[in-house]
Amino acid sequence: MDNFVYHNPTEILFGRGTIADIADRVPDGVPVLLLYGGGSIRRNGVYDQVRAALGVRRVVEFGGIEANPQFATCMKAVGLVRAEGVRFLLAAGGGSVLDAAKFIAAAAVFDGPDPWEILRTHGEVVKTALPLGTVLTLPATGSEANGNSVISRAETREKLHFTSAHVFPVFSVLDPETTFTLPAKQVRNGIVDAFAHVMEQYMTRPSAAPLQDRIAEGILQTLVEIAGRTIAEPADYDARASFMWSATLALNTLVGCGVPQDWSTHMIGHELTAFHGLDHAETLAIVMPGVWRHKLTAKRAKLEQYGRRVWGVGTAEDAITQTEDFFRSIGMPVRLKDHGIDAAESARRVEARFRERGDSFGEDGDIDAAAAGTILRTRA
Ligand code: NZQ
Ligand code: ZN
Repeated sequence: MDNFVYHNPTEILFGRGTIADIADRVPDGVPVLLLYGGGSIRRNGVYDQVRAALGVRRVVEFGGIEANPQFATCMKAVGLVRAEGVRFLLAAGGGSVLDAAKFIAAAAVFDGPDPWEILRTHGEVVKTALPLGTVLTLPATGSEANGNSVISRAETREKLHFTSAHVFPVFSVLDPETTFTLPAKQVRNGIVDAFAHVMEQYMTRPSAAPLQDRIAEGILQTLVEIAGRTIAEPADYDARASFMWSATLALNTLVGCGVPQDWSTHMIGHELTAFHGLDHAETLAIVMPGVWRHKLTAKRAKLEQYGRRVWGVGTAEDAITQTEDFFRSIGMPVRLKDHGIDAAESARRVEARFRERGDSFGEDGDIDAAAAGTILRTRA
């Protein structure tokens, strides 16, 4: 196990009725910016609960944050933060709203001419940020308990992430009842995203970290166990609660402590969203089995361990097939053609993008432009 620092400053308020608990956590006497998306929180009662909890505080609202939040939209909110003297951000929604809040929190106090630098440097230039809290309504990204944010730029077809200790939420409310209104497609997406987050930190090579392995496998097993039920029965509280907590633990930095990490699936996936508009999780289900087969020799020991412990199968190939079958069983396609995308063309574009940036990813740093292209061509 490698050296690591584990510091997660986010307070989690989990369970029914916990939105009310933000009342004594959001600062008094300063303007608060309430951020939300396309309106789901107005339809499912979350907005009313949040406003009730905020009481007489001065609240400025900014809605309309898109799925795959846009830089231009975030910059409008930055203008509002400055104009109104906002001192605290409250994000209510899915990962997109939370990620936007993190970027706005950093950009509003960024000391430099162009806040895009925050993304171009993946967070290196972030020295401070406004504090933020979240009310999560979509279990998937883990954004509620990490320092990551992913922002898109339509005009250049870019989707970049940044990471900073300064944008961990101060608190996050996780009330499973707020997720009962999710369309089945978003639940499916969330399960696959959480599954992939565990895998990016687990499916590498043995690293003398048996506890991290067992935690990872426990999250995977829980997701497999509740997936069908929580899609079929959205209001089954217990299944939804297990799903929600699994998604948070999948990417709150715990699983990744002291172990090698991959993340090549996510990096290739972000390009697929930028170029083809696929949902984030849709890209992961396509790319991940391809990365595993491409790195079959290097990943064999972990693939076999995963196969044995999670699926009860003996070979690396069987473990990969089981994973693809699982994704399909919850309605998630695993091939580019399922989305009408030409693999050769997609590979060419992603390869060019990786080459232009000089990027390479993976636990061995060998998923470069050529490898990304090769992997995508196998996912036709
Ligand atoms: O916009 P509204 O109206 O709120 O509707 C949203 C949106 O249309 C809807 N929704 C959310 N909660 C709902 C609901 N509808 C009904 N009832 C509810 N309770 O769901 C749609 C999708 O929301 P979005 O926030 O885009 O989804 P998700 O949480 O999957 O976030 C995806 C974004 O997160 C990034 C992705 O790249 C993508 O941009 N990621 C962030 C990460 C992080 N911060 O650590 C890691 C991930 O790997 C990922 O890259
Ligand atoms: Zn993800």
